[in-house]
Amino acid sequence: MEEKKTLFSAVQPSGILTIGNYLGALKNFKKLQSDYNSIFALADLHTLTVKQETGALKKNTYELLALYLACGLNPEESVIFAQSHVSAHAELAWILNTITYPGELSRMTQFKDKSQKHADNINMGLMDYPVLMASDILLYQTDLVPIGADQKQHLELSRDLAIRFNNRFGETFKVPDGYFAKNCARVMSLSEPERKMSKSDPNLNSFISMDDDIDTIIRKFKRAVTDSDNRIVYSEDKKGISNLLTIYCAFTDKTIEEAEKEFDGQLYGAFKLKVGEAVAEKIEPIRLEKNRLLANKDYLDDVLSSGAIRAERIAYRTLNKVYKKVGLVPKKRV
Ligand code: TYM
Repeated sequence: MEEKKTLFSAVQPSGILTIGNYLGALKNFKKLQSDYNSIFALADLHTLTVKQETGALKKNTYELLALYLACGLNPEESVIFAQSHVSAHAELAWILNTITYPGELSRMTQFKDKSQKHADNINMGLMDYPVLMASDILLYQTDLVPIGADQKQHLELSRDLAIRFNNRFGETFKVPDGYFAKNCARVMSLSEPERKMSKSDPNLNSFISMDDDIDTIIRKFKRAVTDSDNRIVYSEDKKGISNLLTIYCAFTDKTIEEAEKEFDGQLYGAFKLKVGEAVAEKIEPIRLEKNRLLANKDYLDDVLSSGAIRAERIAYRTLNKVYKKVGLVPKKRV
């Protein structure tokens, strides 16, 4: 039998996730987990690149773990852990820093965006963020990385660094491929459909959070920006309607053509209500299950500690190899 390939992905515990994160990442994690040796991290060190309110990071880390589980990630099958619990991530990031050029990092779109958004805190971590992400991925000899389109540039850097290191020091890292959700790699904002849906958007009506209840979801979809043309068709110049059709299809497993036929001749109001109902029907059980899991911190801590032990075992195999390749003196066990 053929060995399973390795899948790695991570999400930042930086707040309540949106259906953009769900459709672009988490839904695929669940879909792919059994076909791969799957490893899912909570990227808590990445979150430190933006100022955190006291206690928020800890709370959000448990929230995200509970959400992973509520979305169907299985800690018996997959390795699920907190990035900060496996110090090899920070250690490999240091080594990779020595083969990364500042220009590669300063031209990253996300760095430029975040520098504008957090002008009072442009720290080295914000710039170095993609190197830590490369370290996350390369430590596990990853074949496949399911991510949304906004992370593509970072994945490219991971590939470049793997190739550069291999060329300089000899074959060490697998060169990973990205996996992008069909149609949903970039779910757009409900209020400004030319922008990405984002959990940090100050306009709460622009995104559906995984914590929104049924009424809130339906109300937000009712307010979603459309156009005045009253045709429910997917088209480049109908960004709002196309985004709603995409979301509807992702939650109902229908094709765009099927949805266009279903809503042919209907009014926008009725269509938006249907989209809201379809989304709420899928999100509500996840929200309830997440809240149920959150009440059991002991269980969540157990998942994290066994995940960290399993992750460490794999990660240190790669890190030891890297240390040897770059010429560090091996640590003698006494
Ligand atoms: P993060 O936490 O910002 O987002 C988590 C995942 O959600 C995807 N995503 C979207 N997909 C579709 N439409 C959207 N509107 C949307 N918004 C977000 C993101 O692309 C991502 O896949 N740097 C990463 C976390 C990370 C990571 C890694 C990912 C750290 N190390 C190693 C993969 C491999 C991040 O900040 O994602």
